[in-house]
Amino acid sequence: EIDSEVESLLGRMTLEQKIGQMFQVLASNFSFGNEVATDPPEKLIAEGRAGSVLGAFDVSRVFQLQKIAVEQSPHGIPLLFNADIIHGSQTVFPVPLAWSCSWDMEAIKEACAIAAKEASASGTVYNHGPMIDIGRDPRWGRVVEGAGEDPYLGALIAKAQVEGFQGESLFHKETIVACLKHFIGYGASEGGRDYNTVDMSEATLRNVFLPPFQAGLEAGAASVMNAFNIYQGVPVAASEELLKRLLREELGFEGVLISDYGAVDEIVEHGFAEDVREAAKMAVGATMDIEMATRSYEHLAELVREGSVAEETIDGAARRILRLKYKLGLMDDPFRYVRPEKEQEYHFHEDHLRASRELARKSIVLLKNDGALPLAKDGGKIALVGPFADSKDLLGPWQFSRYGHETVSLYEGLAASGIEEERLLFAQGSGINDSLEGGIEEALRIGEQADVIVLALGESSDMSGEAASRLSIHLPEAQQRLAEAIAALGKPTVLVLTNGRPLVLDWYAANVNAIVVTWFLGSQAGLAIADVLTGAYNPSGKLTMSFPAHQGQVPVYYNHFLTGRPLTEANKNLKYISKYLDGPNDPLYPFGYGLSYSRFEYSELKLDRSAIEGDEKLIAAVTVTNRGDAAGEETVQLYIQDLHGSIVRPVKELKGFRKLWLEPGESGNAVFEIGEADLAFWSPGKGYAAEPGRFSLYIGSSSRDVQAAEFVWTAGKS
Ligand code: IFM
Repeated sequence: EIDSEVESLLGRMTLEQKIGQMFQVLASNFSFGNEVATDPPEKLIAEGRAGSVLGAFDVSRVFQLQKIAVEQSPHGIPLLFNADIIHGSQTVFPVPLAWSCSWDMEAIKEACAIAAKEASASGTVYNHGPMIDIGRDPRWGRVVEGAGEDPYLGALIAKAQVEGFQGESLFHKETIVACLKHFIGYGASEGGRDYNTVDMSEATLRNVFLPPFQAGLEAGAASVMNAFNIYQGVPVAASEELLKRLLREELGFEGVLISDYGAVDEIVEHGFAEDVREAAKMAVGATMDIEMATRSYEHLAELVREGSVAEETIDGAARRILRLKYKLGLMDDPFRYVRPEKEQEYHFHEDHLRASRELARKSIVLLKNDGALPLAKDGGKIALVGPFADSKDLLGPWQFSRYGHETVSLYEGLAASGIEEERLLFAQGSGINDSLEGGIEEALRIGEQADVIVLALGESSDMSGEAASRLSIHLPEAQQRLAEAIAALGKPTVLVLTNGRPLVLDWYAANVNAIVVTWFLGSQAGLAIADVLTGAYNPSGKLTMSFPAHQGQVPVYYNHFLTGRPLTEANKNLKYISKYLDGPNDPLYPFGYGLSYSRFEYSELKLDRSAIEGDEKLIAAVTVTNRGDAAGEETVQLYIQDLHGSIVRPVKELKGFRKLWLEPGESGNAVFEIGEADLAFWSPGKGYAAEPGRFSLYIGSSSRDVQAAEFVWTAGKS
């Protein structure tokens, strides 16, 4: 039925009106700073020169603009209202890099569903998320928005996010369109510098960067956004190879493809089109439906008239956009998402805050603990020192909540945990990037009175996210000086990090007693951190991005290739080996790593057989026992290595994990079934297939702490 209504409407629209649907304009109260000189949105909308609006977070603004579209524009076609709902709407959840460390798909899905419920009440129907780029370089500020370095986990998380945002049906008033971004390769920006060049093989594209997109599409994502970068010399926004052939034809994507902000115009900046007219022709030819922010598509009518662009190309784009508007129910009821009464009910609802706190606790990763944690329950003074000791800058980038002032700081979280106020001492000690006059002296004064010092250091929200790449991934100098002064006191010291990326922590690993990575945990951050510091919650997060031992290592990730001269224990003193003269190859804390207050003991790894053929399955299992005093959760990880192939294969690839909740003394089994699908990869000329031969299988508590076994897979008789 939708199809016939769309066709009937299309038949009544002029070429210009169809093209009008292909523009996304900015609600005037939202801008990225890049100057885009256009008419005001009200005028563009009234004239039918806009089909969607970016960043009208305010429900009354949505109402106002929608009213113009319905009452004044040709055919009264309602607008789509788009926004970046990356990790929550009014209730802010942990940043995605944080929540990925929970390895908890249900909790991530729930966070996205809550975000959709809150955002849709304010009229947002179309999310510019999830961001599912693989991140291997911590200098790149946008790693904070993704799920880290692993394609397998990234794919599961992409699926969970799409399911959370879109729910069962887009027609439902409390769901929003999921837009998979950024297709594709953006995470490989050279030098970790945002918007920089990408140079990537097709094998890396398909084996590393594509799986989250495949999973997101399979989950039914209704939209995709292009990446800013080039792929093999062609800006993605202009790439027929990537957008038309790979995304649409091969992966079967029929939804709306939206350009990133200004990406159509930037085809010219890249030096790939002569002018914006040519850029528009390229983008539309690559099946880019919506142009965000800029107006190169104003040239499309002329291009159609002169025969350079086929009218069916425009019809195709307009059809996809209109179909989405019908699916969302907007065509019959343009104001169905304008629900101020639901805003009142849903925004910052206590159930949402509870879910945010729960996911925040699961996102925390304990990197070191020599016994300083959990904090002693009875007596003893705790000095809270550092720029994040009582800061509310714990939401991270990409959030637009009106409730920022209600974010729970670490100090407030500890005070709320039942620790008597007289036990809590506080000194800011330093700014984030600059020292504070007398700050270190004040910090030392309270540090001397304390039994334990909690050093709360980190990055501000604007030090990660878009256009927030860093040359240095150390903590800023001012904070380092504070930390050195505090460590010299020789008191038990716990580092609590607020961070949007992996940082180099070698000095801290050697000089503090415990390290707790909290990322940006959202509205309930302080409560969640307090839960972990006091032992009310036993930490269970596992890193999804490696923490380098040295900045010179980056990019450093666990699923790398071997090289012809790999470094081993036996050859480490030889010269002509793939290594550094002045430091290790390995990261300080690898992918999958994270401690608990429990001690989990692994039994010997057992395989039920050492060879499988065709679609036969192999069973690998370990028993894990909680030898600690606290109940806790362990994430048991399975990795596979293809020992030789038609192209070289990574040293390890995550292929599964099991979560075990174990009481003290309790044992649980982690059982994995491995078959042909787990061994398949893409190879030039061969496509996707498993290749017969020997494989190593690893099971353990991180990508480094594993037991190994070998098996053989042979193709079945066809
Ligand atoms: O969605 C974002 C994108 O990820 C980066 N550029 C701006 C867009 C605004 O919606």
